Amino acid sequence: MNMNSITHTAVLAALSQVQDPDLKKDLVTLNMIRNLTVDGRKVSFTLVLTTPACPLKDAIKNACVTAIKTLVSADAEVDVVVTAETRGASDGRFTGVKNVVAVASGKGGVGKSTVAANLAVALAHAGAQVGLLDADLYGPSMPLMFNLRGQQPLIRSDNGKDRMVPFTRYGVRVMSIGFLVPEEQAVVWRGPMISKALQQLAFDTDWGTLDYLVVDLPPGTGDIHITLAQQFQPRGVIVVTTPQPVALADARKAAAMFRMPGVTAPILGVVENMAYFVPPDMPEKKYHIFGAGGGKALAEELGVPLLAQIPMVETVRTGGDTGKPVALAAKSPEGAAFGELAGNVARALAVLD
Ligand SMILES: Nc1ncnc2c1ncn2[C@@H]1O[C@H](COP(=O)(O)OP(=O)(O)OP(=O)(O)O)[C@@H](O)[C@H]1O
Ligand SMILES: [Mg+2]
Repeated sequence: MNMNSITHTAVLAALSQVQDPDLKKDLVTLNMIRNLTVDGRKVSFTLVLTTPACPLKDAIKNACVTAIKTLVSADAEVDVVVTAETRGASDGRFTGVKNVVAVASGKGGVGKSTVAANLAVALAHAGAQVGLLDADLYGPSMPLMFNLRGQQPLIRSDNGKDRMVPFTRYGVRVMSIGFLVPEEQAVVWRGPMISKALQQLAFDTDWGTLDYLVVDLPPGTGDIHITLAQQFQPRGVIVVTTPQPVALADARKAAAMFRMPGVTAPILGVVENMAYFVPPDMPEKKYHIFGAGGGKALAEELGVPLLAQIPMVETVRTGGDTGKPVALAAKSPEGAAFGELAGNVARALAVLD
């Protein structure tokens, strides 16, 4: 093949044959190809993905190379630099925050906080700028889960306004009521008090620029949920459930709440936690202690994806209790499950309008 045939136009034409599988449009139309240069056989460009947590990173990159080699020249030497610009809307009261993502459940103790902490860590691991707001004012978990108990945040004056500086752990900026008041004091607030306290915690924190702000909610449907839906402009809600019928029934109620008029926030999908038990000495075995298929059935009923199935394993609990979320071990099976969750959440957000 003639090496002179490699032109800027021909390369762009080839790349316009490659689709983003989620956005269902070609990469050129989506403005995902930047800085294209052609020098003899050398073709180089930047591929700008919609999220650093894109699970299809390698597949899209390979599709670009294949398109150029088959449609332009088999001799082409293609050099692709992959970066990301997270999509999202940064209006509302959180300036600089592109995607507020809430983690909810109907029933208590199903693993919301565990999912929120590990999702945040996994998104940060993928290269995103991530914050984590512990909105469970009745029973904050994040000081423990990030090994930050007893810490008090610094206050920084910003144009005459005092703002709290979140703690940064494992690449995640964390804020919790647990840093501000003694643990036993937080639980007594109700109604307008709790709404006001949550808004202060959220909006008086100096989050900086964030691709994702993960919000860990208390169980059920109460003042905190209404405040979130009405004040935070969440881009999406993740519903956590365990597979047993009682948890599913409550998860259904929580989902229904976010679909009420005036409280609307899109449900991104379902996470089935404690989906199955893997005995440490028999890693090939799966025991469906709480039943099987519940998360999938709920997702189908709600018309949303099942974002992940997280196994029940001791390391998930010890990770929480020792302040080292299991998602830090990205290659372990349970760490990988949270990595997959992060990718799926990022994709679900990237395809929203
Ligand atoms: N996949 C899992 N494997 C093992 N233990 C888990 C798993 N998920 C959660 N846990 C443990 O279950 C307990 C409850 O989890 P967590 O605090 O995340 O639930 P929650 O839904 O946030 O509870 P609450 O409703 O009280 O806020 C914790 O001790 C946690 O470590
Ligand atoms: Mg919790």
